[in-house]
Amino acid sequence: MHSRLVVALSFVCVAAPVFALDNGVARTPPMGWNSWNKFGCNVSEKMIREMADAVVTSGMKDAGYNYVVIDDCWQVSRDPEGNIVADAERFPSGMKALADYVHSKGLKFGLYSDAGTKTCQGRPGGRGYEYQDARQYAAWGVDYLKYDWCSHSTQDGPSSYALMSDALKQSGRPIVFSLCEWGSNKPWLWARDVGNLWRTTGDIQDKWSNDKKGQSLGVVQILDLQDGLASYAGPGHWNDPDMLEVGNGGMTSEEYRAHFSMWCLLAAPLIAGNDLRSMPADTRDILTNKEVIAIDQDSLGMEGRRVWRNGDTEVWARPLADGGRAVALLNRGSSAATIEVQWTDLGYPGHLSAKVRDLWAKQDRGAFTKSFSAVVPSHGVVMVTVKP
Ligand code: GLA
Repeated sequence: MHSRLVVALSFVCVAAPVFALDNGVARTPPMGWNSWNKFGCNVSEKMIREMADAVVTSGMKDAGYNYVVIDDCWQVSRDPEGNIVADAERFPSGMKALADYVHSKGLKFGLYSDAGTKTCQGRPGGRGYEYQDARQYAAWGVDYLKYDWCSHSTQDGPSSYALMSDALKQSGRPIVFSLCEWGSNKPWLWARDVGNLWRTTGDIQDKWSNDKKGQSLGVVQILDLQDGLASYAGPGHWNDPDMLEVGNGGMTSEEYRAHFSMWCLLAAPLIAGNDLRSMPADTRDILTNKEVIAIDQDSLGMEGRRVWRNGDTEVWARPLADGGRAVALLNRGSSAATIEVQWTDLGYPGHLSAKVRDLWAKQDRGAFTKSFSAVVPSHGVVMVTVKP
């Protein structure tokens, strides 16, 4: 009788309503590569094949990057039956062959479309074709769909994305669903049941800071906009502060290290956007730092938050599955600064002895009580784990 009760109770638990999109993917933030930040509309099957090769040969695949995603401009029209048509000049072998090639490398394949009538570059959008497109994507072998928000006219945000979410579900293929509505409708409040990740802001620019209104955002402007969103993220449903600019030339190595560190602290999707075929060693060392990536991919899935700030100096922290904390000491100022993290800001009592490891220097710093401090270069971070 007793064991029957246990079985009955566990059944009730299993059958309880799910509170997040239950497509089984993106249990940790997705990692991969996307064409937009570097190539814009200049996409082709030749480049995508070369990039898939480079994901493997550069060590990116070993570091965890597995989605290869073509952003805008792969599509040109619809045929008389309404099927979406890929650009036959740029993709002469077709999308199925390209997906097969990417899969043959042990990688996953992604595409981009838009919830409105046209994509942001004026290509055909998905509006009115959601189920037909989802069937097509599944037939091609698509594993990831980024869905933009241009030309949406008077469409309702949540229901437009819910429609495509259902279409993907009906396709029968597990497809990561990436909502790209720039935070316009506060997706963190409703997208947990709809998608696996949602953009929280407008587009990133390859700059440390850009506060000019109406323009794309610098790294620090995006960071400020993540404040307060941490509690909405978790396994299968992530805040997306936009793709990485690491290696695209607009920032210093120090700034790129900080950009990458902060995205990992935020449990952000790590979607590289540089040319992996010609990646200098310092770029590769940033994108493939396994200890920093391990923070991003920590199984607890708790996004970090800003726990202290004083002018241009900030401390960000996130709890880890092993009970430790990841901590980023961030210096936004124009000269080096000493930044200190107090144990009490991490939820630890001050008397606790905890081991500190520097994840970029790849060195143990020893055991500390009460606090840890380090000199942080201008526009840089010192990133550590603190483990009791
Ligand atoms: C929007 C998105 C970008 C990119 C472009 C493509 O601006 O936010 O990430 O996909 O469209 O046109």
